[in-house]
Amino acid sequence: MQEQIKELRRQMMDAIGGIHSKEDLADFWQNYLGKNGQVAGLMKNLRSVAKEERPTMGKLINELKTETEARYQAAREKMEEAELAARDRKEQIDITMPAKRDRVGNLHPLTLTRNEMVNVFSGMGFEIYDGAEIEDDDHNFTRLNVPKNHPSRDMQDTFYITEDILLRTQTSTGQIRYMDAHKPPIKMLSPGRVFRSDSDATHSPMFSQMEGLVVDKHITLGDLQGMLEKFCQQIFGESVRTRLRPSYFPFTEPSVEIDVSCFKCGGKGCSLCKGTGWIEILGGGVVHHKVLANCGIDPDVYSGFAFGIGIERVAMLKYGINNIGLLTQNDLRFLKQFREV
Ligand code: DAH
Repeated sequence: MQEQIKELRRQMMDAIGGIHSKEDLADFWQNYLGKNGQVAGLMKNLRSVAKEERPTMGKLINELKTETEARYQAAREKMEEAELAARDRKEQIDITMPAKRDRVGNLHPLTLTRNEMVNVFSGMGFEIYDGAEIEDDDHNFTRLNVPKNHPSRDMQDTFYITEDILLRTQTSTGQIRYMDAHKPPIKMLSPGRVFRSDSDATHSPMFSQMEGLVVDKHITLGDLQGMLEKFCQQIFGESVRTRLRPSYFPFTEPSVEIDVSCFKCGGKGCSLCKGTGWIEILGGGVVHHKVLANCGIDPDVYSGFAFGIGIERVAMLKYGINNIGLLTQNDLRFLKQFREV
């Protein structure tokens, strides 16, 4: 019997060393410590041992049982620890790993340009006025000194909704709306979309303008030039100059076209300025006395200047965009190139 106990202990010790998984552990339990396991088997065999030896053998078997249980427990704890360590390793976060980059969006080049232009005028104290895109003939034309059947209506190909309602062709409508609601001193800036039946590489049926209006006592064409030269320098660079050319708009008298010296070649002549050294940038003039009177402002007391700038045109010049269609096609390869600086 004593030999059997020794032999079982040897086997048990071997088996302990061979435990590598939960299954091995369960097998070990069943094999040695289970109800029908080998230790219990030895106990059963005790009956065949001589009576005098039974207490000694019983004690030895009990010792073996205790030791086996202790070793089983130790093996189990070791396994649990190993499992925990493995899980820790798996769940460990490597903080040195490069992060996944989120793609950062950017503003549309037209929005960038508009914001930049608005910022310059806001800094000069202009109030922003949002007009409506659907207008009536009265505000878009008649009260801007463009009576029905006047030939200057042909300057703009208009989308009519009814005989009297139209998509505004110019932000100049904002002049009338604003002067109806506000009296001088006035410093108003109205950026917005306008519509004309016109389409080629530099014209789009929908485009944006920015209207400016200043009305107060003693406002002259000189104020217009001074303010717009400052504007051009902030948008195109400190070294640019401006010049006025006589022009015609029904709502200003005198009317001017304002050119900026070419910011690419410095005025020497290049492809951007078509060899002239100058780039036409906006229209403006002294507000026609009839327009002031149409809004209940006394033209003998007050005078003003007004101007209108195409925002797409400024964006195209600034960024070297050669086709206005690119601004509405939403091609990401194009749009991704613009960043606020
Ligand atoms: N409304 C004109 C256009 O669309 C631009 C313009 C010219 C606006 C002269 C003005 C101005 O306020 O004074 O062509």
